[in-house]
Amino acid sequence: MSNLVVVGTQWGDEGKGKIIDILAEKADIIARFQGGANAGHTVVVGEKEFIFHLIPSGILRPGKQCVIGNGVVIDLKALIEEMDYLKDKGVKSEGNLFISENAHLTMPYHKILDQIMDKRRGRGRLGTTGRGIGTTYSDKSARAGIRMIDLLNKETFQQKLEINLEEKNYLLEKFYDRQRISKEGILEEYLSYGEKIRGCITNTSRLLNQAIDEGKNVLFEGAQGTLLDIDFGTYPYVTASNPTAGAVCTGLGIGPTKIDRVMGVAKAYTTRVGEGPFPTQFSPEFEEEMRLRGKEYGATTGRPRRCGWFDAIVVRHAVRVNGLSSLAITKLDVLDNLEKIKICIGYKHQGKILEDFPALLPVVQQCEPVYEEMEGWKEDISSVKDYEHLPQKAKRYLERISELLNTEISLISVGPKREQTIILKKLMSH
Ligand code: GDP
Ligand code: IMO
Ligand code: MG
Repeated sequence: MSNLVVVGTQWGDEGKGKIIDILAEKADIIARFQGGANAGHTVVVGEKEFIFHLIPSGILRPGKQCVIGNGVVIDLKALIEEMDYLKDKGVKSEGNLFISENAHLTMPYHKILDQIMDKRRGRGRLGTTGRGIGTTYSDKSARAGIRMIDLLNKETFQQKLEINLEEKNYLLEKFYDRQRISKEGILEEYLSYGEKIRGCITNTSRLLNQAIDEGKNVLFEGAQGTLLDIDFGTYPYVTASNPTAGAVCTGLGIGPTKIDRVMGVAKAYTTRVGEGPFPTQFSPEFEEEMRLRGKEYGATTGRPRRCGWFDAIVVRHAVRVNGLSSLAITKLDVLDNLEKIKICIGYKHQGKILEDFPALLPVVQQCEPVYEEMEGWKEDISSVKDYEHLPQKAKRYLERISELLNTEISLISVGPKREQTIILKKLMSH
């Protein structure tokens, strides 16, 4: 038995989708535990590209069970669109997809309010994905949310919707000077969604614990990344959930004793989409060049991603808060043409060198990264199949990262495709 958590170690988009797809081959169940349709996980199979927002990336492996846990916030419209999108591409999700009855629903007003609220922040905007994530989690914490199970009972759903709309419409009309939202439209639309996915809604905590007791392999698919964590990220420039490993337990109803290993996914450089501090961000010209090389455009919003050097302070923070047992390094091929490659090994602040990620934002903003420079390998590595055949200088770069983080590297990705993967250590038994 081996249950493995996969989390992002930077600001999201590390290539978690690809890694999950690789590992899912040996898993029985793949489960999402937090986040919502703000995620955009890309998997390339042959000539086909798939982008997942809510459905676990493991759905591409026939016969695997996929779970959307109670910790995920679900935009049903987006979910059904994703099921149809997969169906069009020849992938069946009905019968293999299980949704927690306790998961909270992202309603149309959550998306509208998320967008309006972020716009209203002006210069202080977070640059959210506009998918209603923060507003759904706010209602969950305020004990006002509507859950999946509520949808299956018309009276309960209607009652909760009315209570919510009363407040949201007041806010929309009186505070934001926007149009009201009518109850009738939502009621009809959502009840029909409920009918469509009734068969998927279940007690997923029981399903998972039973599978674990039977010795099945479970893969936990994190969304976003550690620096977007509401507690451990660059608050307030973060998402509204905990994308870190601890959330697996609360987001799925699994005890910590059931988790064997935690793998962190890190890009061989760093990217960030949305606002907030980013100490190792490249200069604009070089950033544009690297963005093109790495095709760094958001999978959910299409926004250009900000790009920078690998930041060992950021990933070391992720090693600690997630208790990482190993790392997967992705997009190493994107660095192929570089003469010199830099790694950030410390932050200089008021004459002192900081080795831990600072909690205070102004400190992060004032920091000057301290770099170590390494020689680039200047070779195409995108078809390298095993570690031995990587150029010496690429190995040195990886070894230095592993040394700085005091964590082993168990997987290296050298391209978006399945076959562009170097597996150094078997991670799941079977
Ligand atoms: P996620 O959100 O962590 O799943 O990552 P995204 O899917 O948002 O972004 C990663 C992007 O990089 C996707 O377009 C992947 O197809 C692509 N990708 C993943 N691994 C590699 C790699 O090793 N090399 C290259 N060049 N692209 C990769
Ligand atoms: P995956 O799973 C990258 C960012 C947004 C914004 C901040 C808050 O593909 O790695 P939100 O809509 O969550 O309230 O936005 O978080 N963000 C992501 N950035 N990858 C993601 O997911 C992200 N999900 C949210 O850009 O800065
Ligand atoms: Mg993404």
